[in-house]
Amino acid sequence: DLPKQVKIVEVGARDGLQNEKQVSTEAKIAFINSLSACGVRHIEAGSFVSAKRVPQMADSMSVMQGIERHSGVTYSALTPNIQGFEMALAAEASEVAIFGSASEGFSQHNINCSISGSLQRFESVMALAKLHEIPVRGYLSCVIDCPYDGETDPNKVALIAQTLLEMGCHEISLGDTVGTGTPLRVARMLEAVSRLVPPSLLAVHFHNTWGQALPNIYQALQMGISTIDSSTAGLGGCPYAPGASGNVATEDVVYLCQQMGINTGIDLNKLAEAGWMICQSLGIAPRSNVSLALRSA
Ligand code: HMG
Ligand code: MG
Repeated sequence: DLPKQVKIVEVGARDGLQNEKQVSTEAKIAFINSLSACGVRHIEAGSFVSAKRVPQMADSMSVMQGIERHSGVTYSALTPNIQGFEMALAAEASEVAIFGSASEGFSQHNINCSISGSLQRFESVMALAKLHEIPVRGYLSCVIDCPYDGETDPNKVALIAQTLLEMGCHEISLGDTVGTGTPLRVARMLEAVSRLVPPSLLAVHFHNTWGQALPNIYQALQMGISTIDSSTAGLGGCPYAPGASGNVATEDVVYLCQQMGINTGIDLNKLAEAGWMICQSLGIAPRSNVSLALRSA
């Protein structure tokens, strides 16, 4: 059974822009404001990480302080540690996200520590978030394959997802960081995770490197998952996953949902315009088939 409604978590301003050439703070603010005007209700607005590691996100504080806030819209930020959490608090993030990995290799390359070390770090972020009553999303990367360690065991994904849940995350986003997943493997992974974490608390986060994100999303929808991460114009990638391209384009997900009678709350035409606008700042064309098709229709 397909859901009647999905929650789309727009990660373009973070996952997208962290791996594109630098755009101005003003362009990011205009992008985020245009997203909320399209009906997007969950916007990942930035990331409080080392500026040496990810210079594109260094202005996240100014971005979050410069945007128009709309009631009913969540503006979230990545917070790998206490330092990041305190910055997110100052930036008035309405939600934060911790991000771990299901594979040791990616954990080391991305956040410079082991999986168990990262879980320890997250405990202190969770404690502070609880104190300040800020909801925490938990990301889990490399749920299908790891660029350093190869295939990931679905049972390992399930166990770490359960740990993140038990720590107090309200939602676990399962990331196919490199975008190699296909529906059968995704189904096996989701089956394993769903035994330990209810599908209603899971989100799927597909990078579209191999063009498999939409069939994977269709698979996840059929398995009771109704939270989908996506990036307008298909922007981005991950600096620590060489060769990986951006997330599935939000325009493509909205079109897929519309055609299946699933409500997203998002105005597709306006969203496509928002995508063209940020792409103009980047000097690229949207990496969304739906956006390109709309333009030539
Ligand atoms: P560390 O490397 O262990 O070292 O940091 P540290 O804690 O000793 O700090 C090193 C330097 O970073 C110091 O500055 C700190 O002050 C600074 P220096 O003394 O060298 O000038 N620092 C910070 N600066 C700003 N904000 C902070 C912060 N913490 C330390 N919060 C750390 C660990 C995680 C911070 C670092 O390794 C890092 O920033 N890594 C980058 C991780 C990242 O942003 N990756 C991309 C996002 S994750 C992703 O894209 C995957 C996802 O989309 C899901 C999927 O697709 O799978 C979520
Ligand atoms: Mg990602």
